[in-house]
Amino acid sequence: MIVLGIETSCDETAVAVVEDDRVRSNLLSSQTDLHARFGGVVPELASRAHLVSLNILLAQAIQEAGVAYSDLDGVAVTIGPGLIGALLVGVSAAKALASVLDVPLIGVNHLEGHVEAAFLERPDLRTPIIALIVSGGHTMIAEVPERGRYEILGQTIDDAAGEAFDKIARYIGLAFPGGPEIDRLARDGNPAAYRFPRAKMNDDDYDFSYSGLKTAVIRWIRERQDAGEDIDAADLAASFQEAVVDVQVAKTLRAAETRRIATVVVAGGVAANSRLRARMHEEGERRRIEIVTPSLLLCTDNAAMIATAGMRRLEAGERTPLDVPATPNLALA
Ligand code: KG4
Ligand code: ZN
Repeated sequence: MIVLGIETSCDETAVAVVEDDRVRSNLLSSQTDLHARFGGVVPELASRAHLVSLNILLAQAIQEAGVAYSDLDGVAVTIGPGLIGALLVGVSAAKALASVLDVPLIGVNHLEGHVEAAFLERPDLRTPIIALIVSGGHTMIAEVPERGRYEILGQTIDDAAGEAFDKIARYIGLAFPGGPEIDRLARDGNPAAYRFPRAKMNDDDYDFSYSGLKTAVIRWIRERQDAGEDIDAADLAASFQEAVVDVQVAKTLRAAETRRIATVVVAGGVAANSRLRARMHEEGERRRIEIVTPSLLLCTDNAAMIATAGMRRLEAGERTPLDVPATPNLALA
């Protein structure tokens, strides 16, 4: 089966062609430069940039894949969650294509796409799995009893993990998006230099909270500045990152142990974090839990993950009607 995937939920315009387990093309036009001077994604600018890029990317993705439009067996598109205007660009294009080509349309939940990225690289992977989904807008632990079914065990009660990275990065003057910047800076730092709070780490649930950590870090910086003390930025980045990672590792592996599930998938943009990946693999090995971390380009937003998720649903006989809306707060379960 050959499926075209379209992803425009936030600030990456992405188009991919996937044939079974093989990625034939996977293209991305990042809007990072466009939003950087505002320190965050400006929704209206994102929508307009998607409009400019999408048709060009579609043509390139088809060409690079070495297929014709008539070879496509379906069109998969992110229908939520995400920015309404941004989503609408991809959804409208996907509807037009499916209609003109007379192939099925399949709407995909962006978060399911992140999880399915793991199966794209590891077709041998078997459910059940525990998925830690950590992105710019979401942070949750889900049990996946079979592909396409999700039971949310817990989620953030305030900020998302990526949001915490981005906010702290912005506060200390790093570029947007801040996650990769903190990751890079932290490599030269000592993660035990400063001790920041690990909210909810030992609570008997699977929820997360990052707003207290954010406040603690900002207060800590101000106190040092007021006292005229030097702050080692690398130590600060490493110590903040360690607080985030500690909680994610502890709670995710506890979920796997408690639910007696032997495999953990780490998904979403923050899954690209080098410290989170390393610590997950270390702890997983110690506790005999298999840890799956998709390659970096499949962790951050891309369209191959959307094509894969859509293909699995098409194979199961699912179809999405052409009047499907884009849903900004689309739930996973
Ligand atoms: O999944 P994603 O690409 O887009 C959303 O669906 O939100 O995730 C983007 C988030 C941003 O907050 C970004 O700072 C974060 O993922 N991120 C990282 C890293 N790479 C991306 N956070 C920490 N370390 C990284 N290496
Ligand atoms: Zn994402």
